[in-house]
Amino acid sequence: MDLTDYRERFPILAKTTYLISHSLGPMPAQAERRLAEYAESWNTRGIRAWEEGWWELPITVGDQVARLIGAPPRSTVMHQNVTIAEAVVLSCFQFDGERKRIVYEEENFPSVRYLQQAQRARGAEIVVCRDEEAIVEAIDERTLLVPISHVIFKTGRIQDVEPIIRRAHEVGAYVVLDAYQSVGTVPLDVTALGVDFATGGSVKWLCGGPGAAWLYVRPDLAGRLEPSLVGWQAHARPFAFEPELEYAEGAARFLTGTPNVPALYAATAGYEIIEEIGVERIRANSLRQTELFMRLLDEAGFEVVTPRKPERRGGSVVVRTPGFEAAHAELKARDILCDLRPDVGLRFGPHFFNTDAEIELAASALKEIVGRGARLSAPARGG
Ligand SMILES: Cc1ncc(COP(=O)(O)O)c(C=O)c1O
Repeated sequence: MDLTDYRERFPILAKTTYLISHSLGPMPAQAERRLAEYAESWNTRGIRAWEEGWWELPITVGDQVARLIGAPPRSTVMHQNVTIAEAVVLSCFQFDGERKRIVYEEENFPSVRYLQQAQRARGAEIVVCRDEEAIVEAIDERTLLVPISHVIFKTGRIQDVEPIIRRAHEVGAYVVLDAYQSVGTVPLDVTALGVDFATGGSVKWLCGGPGAAWLYVRPDLAGRLEPSLVGWQAHARPFAFEPELEYAEGAARFLTGTPNVPALYAATAGYEIIEEIGVERIRANSLRQTELFMRLLDEAGFEVVTPRKPERRGGSVVVRTPGFEAAHAELKARDILCDLRPDVGLRFGPHFFNTDAEIELAASALKEIVGRGARLSAPARGG
């Protein structure tokens, strides 16, 4: 199948130029059918639905994500969002000894930053670094955790995470990799990287919709950790309703309470398409299209913020133009969907289903709008 043949699986593509998969990937038509299946199982199977698949969804859907990130089965579990996944990881650690530093970078996604900062109340010392070189330098024997991003959300820059993981492991610290902006468009192999924890969601490049995030825990580590943010899904025998906690084996012990069943039904439709195409193929097309986009933006005389080097460029193209807030509103009025970050510029996220003609349309519309001196302004939404 040609990549553009997949367009018919996403109804919104018939009506919009959808260049915003770094924020909210489009809904596969199959997701609607999955939600209908969910309703049908609730309606016809009732309570029996729990034992017929619902209860296991955080594990079975996690296994699907595991295949996309190079992780073994039973190493990845589903949560509601990345913030909760990272909170479960944090809950495994105390910040009262010599080793109580969290070293992170200033370009982490704000929700993750806020959560890490809040650990000060538990005794954590926070060290904020400018970039990956600064992180490597800052990590020492006092470091407990290193929460970093694979791809920086504002600029689409791929970080060189290997030296960070190597340095963290040298001193006995753990790395938590936020791969929300990479998985689905940039290949990731958590096993090859040897990273301790990885997390991400479904809203963006995976086209899985909100409410379904994943957490990978390195298999040899999972059994040694005991999260204190825990619930009955993490128990070895949840349906024995035992009075005392006994952790389940593996990543299951990183679960909490009742899963977000409808979101997990919906999410699988997007994952299946990504798996069917393969991230390597998506990546090859993404590199070609982001290159094309950057060339057109260069020709229009705009400042491209996205890294030029393919090995550092994620799936997005970020560009700064005069009056870009107003340009964003005008593009939206023309059903050309992108977003903006006030201190950076416009973000475009082409995905496997976009045509080159759509890239050309967006670039020429932007050139024309900026050339005319657009003046409106619009608030930013979404991550
Ligand atoms: C890198 C990154 N991490 C995390 C998030 C979101 O975190 P959460 O799932 O907690 O809303 C986003 C965007 O929404 C993001 O771009």
